[in-house]
Amino acid sequence: MAVVAIDGLGKRYPGSSEPAVEDFTLTIGDGEFMVLLGPSGCGKSSVLRMIAGLEPITTGTIAIDGRVVNQVPAKERDIAMVFQSYALYPHMDVFNNLAFGLRRRSVPAAEIDRRVRQAADKLGLTPYLRRKPHALSGGQRQRVALGRAIVREPKVFLFDEPLSNLDAALRVSTRNELIRQQHEIGITTIYVTHDQVEAMTMGHRICIMDKGEVVQIGAPLEVYRSPANTFVARFLGNPPMNLVPIELGQSSGRLGNVDIPLRSWSPRALGHARTVLLGIRPEDLYETPPRPGDDLVPIAMQVSAVEPLGAETLLVLTLDDGTTDIIARVGRDTRLRIGERATVLLDTTAVHLFDPTTTRVIPRDLP
Ligand SMILES: Nc1ncnc2c1ncn2[C@@H]1O[C@H](COP(=O)(O)OP(=O)(O)O)[C@@H](O)[C@H]1O
Ligand SMILES: [Mg+2]
Repeated sequence: MAVVAIDGLGKRYPGSSEPAVEDFTLTIGDGEFMVLLGPSGCGKSSVLRMIAGLEPITTGTIAIDGRVVNQVPAKERDIAMVFQSYALYPHMDVFNNLAFGLRRRSVPAAEIDRRVRQAADKLGLTPYLRRKPHALSGGQRQRVALGRAIVREPKVFLFDEPLSNLDAALRVSTRNELIRQQHEIGITTIYVTHDQVEAMTMGHRICIMDKGEVVQIGAPLEVYRSPANTFVARFLGNPPMNLVPIELGQSSGRLGNVDIPLRSWSPRALGHARTVLLGIRPEDLYETPPRPGDDLVPIAMQVSAVEPLGAETLLVLTLDDGTTDIIARVGRDTRLRIGERATVLLDTTAVHLFDPTTTRVIPRDLP
């Protein structure tokens, strides 16, 4: 069991002008499942490799259970890492793949046998202990890779996009397996991904990164519901949040020729009249009212595209300016067709406001 405290961590690779990681501060609690989420190249793997001890630290500290490990070699950190490409030893069967790392650490044979059988049992690999990797499915191989990390009984698990090589169905089942494992074993886990669905479903908390820096840290739904800036607003959610420039009035905003009441913001919070970005999640637009109430404001738009996805339908709607598109997520049985005019209802209690210059959220200050 372990607490991982990262403070002011920075990484600059030799010869590169920009730091890959800058002033990264995050504490991962004992037994916590923390997800590092961000686009490719934002520095996730660099952070993970520094925690593992595979990459020297440029600035800041990493402490495990209160002990700074900056100078501690990787093999003495008691950390197990699972990568995207899990190289199993092709000539060894599952048992020996699982046992290999323990033998190298001179763990007694009886103890190796106990740990390997226990991990195999947990991962549903018992029937395959004598099989070689080529005779296993992709999912079974990934479970062996996971098992190799589990048998080490480490203080901390690190995962670097372990599911990205799997096909869609396997990704879902392995994801659920990992969630169950972590829940049962309760080992402190740091999981890197660029996939927002993995982040939302797996993490106790998500740490969202952009260009080497932490943008926001919070529980998945907390971050989804209250994004700190437009980057987070667009990164979490598929399709992403619509961001539309609007002119502010006293306590409302003007979207096309419709007044959007902004009752959760005081005139002081909104400041003087100016343009802000109105954030609308596709699921906060409705074809039929979800409930009675004057919080639902009708907006008439042109239907530019209809995308039936089976369980739901995405509508691309164009405002009367002819250029601003807004995506709405409506029911599977919509009768709207491309080229028609549609009136959808916006739930104005669910909208967000962002400053177009800083991209930061303009927080609500009224209940
Ligand atoms: N060994 C390296 N040498 C030089 N630059 C690197 C090295 N590894 C990563 N980088 C650079 O650091 C940045 C962050 O990379 P990385 O941590 O791999 O991001 P991510 O895992 O989020 O995709 C990128 O710009 C990448 O090109
Ligand atoms: Mg990476």
